Amino acid sequence: MEEEIREEGDEREHAARVEALRRVALAQIRQYPDPVLRLHANEVGSFDDHLSRLADRMTQLMHDARGVGLAATQIGVLQRLFVFRTDEDDEARAVVNPALTSRSSETDVFDEGCLSLQGVLVPVERSVEVTLEGRDLAGQPLQLELEEQAARVVQHELDHLDGVLILERTDDESRREALATLRRNLSRQG
Ligand code: NI
Repeated sequence: MEEEIREEGDEREHAARVEALRRVALAQIRQYPDPVLRLHANEVGSFDDHLSRLADRMTQLMHDARGVGLAATQIGVLQRLFVFRTDEDDEARAVVNPALTSRSSETDVFDEGCLSLQGVLVPVERSVEVTLEGRDLAGQPLQLELEEQAARVVQHELDHLDGVLILERTDDESRREALATLRRNLSRQG
């Protein structure tokens, strides 16, 4: 019995720690309507330590914020780099100078959230399969055939590098609701 009580306490403590880490991470991620989220990021030219440190920091933030993708623009760095993972238990991958070289005409619609748009979940239509090309952190060419959730995540992150948010990818009614939520967030922050 005592053991059980202690375990419950540990679990609560763990959950509180996870939530605290999430908040600390979110505080370091640019939030709507930060104008940097609207800017187009530049091609990366040098594959150096600075770049891998940036990717490490982004991976840690994505992990702590419990997201599945994070683009450099979301931390105010205008470089074409994002990190992503297929789900929360997956190993993160960094892609530099990404481009979609093919996308399926077949699409599907699912709700998407964004670490820069707290409390917003809107339906977005995306290609089901894509080919993503780019470079890894060492500058080596990289080609990924992705589908479903992974394909969706990279389309979302690539949008970030072009200053595009899910607000522009959803239908009018969902956009109105999302903007109302974001206005409420802002007034709560004072
Ligand atoms: Ni996002």
